[in-house]
Amino acid sequence: MRVVCLISGGGSNLQALLDWQSKGLLGDAKIVGVISNNAGVYGLERAKNANISTSVLSHHDYPDRLQFDRKLIELIDYYRPDLVVLAGFMRVLTSEFVSYYANRLINVHPSLLPKHKGLHTHRRAIEAGDTTSGATVHWVTEELDSGNIIRQVEVPIQTDDSEDSLQRRVLEAEHTLYPSVIRDLSLGLISC
Ligand code: GRF
Repeated sequence: MRVVCLISGGGSNLQALLDWQSKGLLGDAKIVGVISNNAGVYGLERAKNANISTSVLSHHDYPDRLQFDRKLIELIDYYRPDLVVLAGFMRVLTSEFVSYYANRLINVHPSLLPKHKGLHTHRRAIEAGDTTSGATVHWVTEELDSGNIIRQVEVPIQTDDSEDSLQRRVLEAEHTLYPSVIRDLSLGLISC
């Protein structure tokens, strides 16, 4: 299963996938390319250190979302992916892009969806008085953070948690959740 990862930043989830891959734990999945919409981000270094092909496609070079997404499709398809993995890709995708990769596009979101879609999930979970947060891997559909849930992991919220401390623990949980889902997809243990 050929996997392309899209990133925008530090890429700690990408690192987790690369680590599982280098240890032979990623099933039949193989990360064949990493694409960032931001040049100079650390996630690109992580990919290069693992000898994975990288590309940068800056959204600033395109007049609108649709033209950017069309170029992005071209670039992704160069890698002939079976699965496109959003790993901290901070772009809203057009419906054209999402339907083009229907059932081949997944995301990890730092909350127990359907709770706290969108940004600032940890702050909102604490403010809401939630006792449990977590992370969700889901299929990507047109509506933001609303596609079918593949798997979730729960992370208890402690009474003294700050937004930062909760974010750290949820991110750590993502680092096992995401690779395990991709492994299981590659082994045919999950379908859409
Ligand atoms: C994570 O919080 C993930 O849930 C969200 O974007 C962040 C990516 O972090 N979708 P990283 O770049 O993988 O460190």
